[in-house]
Amino acid sequence: MFNKSLILGGLAVFVLLVTTPFWYGLLKAGPPPTPEPPPNGASVCVAPVEYMRSSHMKLLDVWRDEVIREAKRETIVVNDPKLGTLEFGKGLQLACMDCHSNKEQFCDSCHEYVSARPDCWTCHMTPAEIASKEAL
Ligand code: HEC
Ligand code: HEC
Ligand code: HEC
Repeated sequence: MFNKSLILGGLAVFVLLVTTPFWYGLLKAGPPPTPEPPPNGASVCVAPVEYMRSSHMKLLDVWRDEVIREAKRETIVVNDPKLGTLEFGKGLQLACMDCHSNKEQFCDSCHEYVSARPDCWTCHMTPAEIASKEAL
């Protein structure tokens, strides 16, 4: 005869082992990120915040193609209720990082949470890198 409790016990251990990555992921994920508000005090983004949250990577792709392939470098205008009319060059460093100047506390806080690793910073410089170059 089979030993029922041995089989069930073995089965339980098997299920636990197979689902380990899932449990580990749950434990590792921790609390959701809280991206830091722009240090310059701006209160609006270049597009509505819901759109930015879900689609900022698409917007960056569009900007990149427009600037590099079509030479469309128009100025980006943001009307901030407190800071007034803000103007930026169209670009990752020129616009995004001007407001979100702390990449580590903003971009990285989310990307680490979802394990996204955009390769942008192998070529583009972060504000911290620019500051350390200027200090030389
Ligand atoms: C292999 C190097 C390289 C990588 C990697 C790279 N870029 Fe660029 N990117 C460039 C160069 C060179 C330009 C042209 C700069 C110019 O002409 O002003 C540029 C321009 C851009 C522009 C338009 C103008 C500007 O200065 O921002 C955007 C937007 C942009 N890149 C976004 C991105 C994003 C987002 C990523 C990551 C997903 C990325 N890039 C990764 C090299 C790179
Ligand atoms: C004028 C300053 C400014 C510029 C330029 C700017 N942002 Fe923002 N961004 C903000 C502010 C302020 C918020 C938060 C808005 C809110 O909470 O209502 C925000 C929100 C966001 C969010 C959502 C964050 C969250 O908590 O869900 C993302 C993602 C984002 N921005 C990415 C970008 C990218 C990428 C660029 C460049 C294409 C950019 N931003 C340019 C000011 C700016
Ligand atoms: C509110 C959270 C949040 C913030 C803040 C945020 N991102 Fe993201 N980002 C994400 C998520 C989620 C993804 C999608 C990851 C995926 O699809 O695997 C992503 C993806 C991206 C991608 C595409 C990555 C790829 O490998 O294709 C780029 C480029 C990017 N983000 C740039 C930025 C930049 C630049 C900033 C800071 C200015 C920023 N993000 C801030 C949440 C955020």
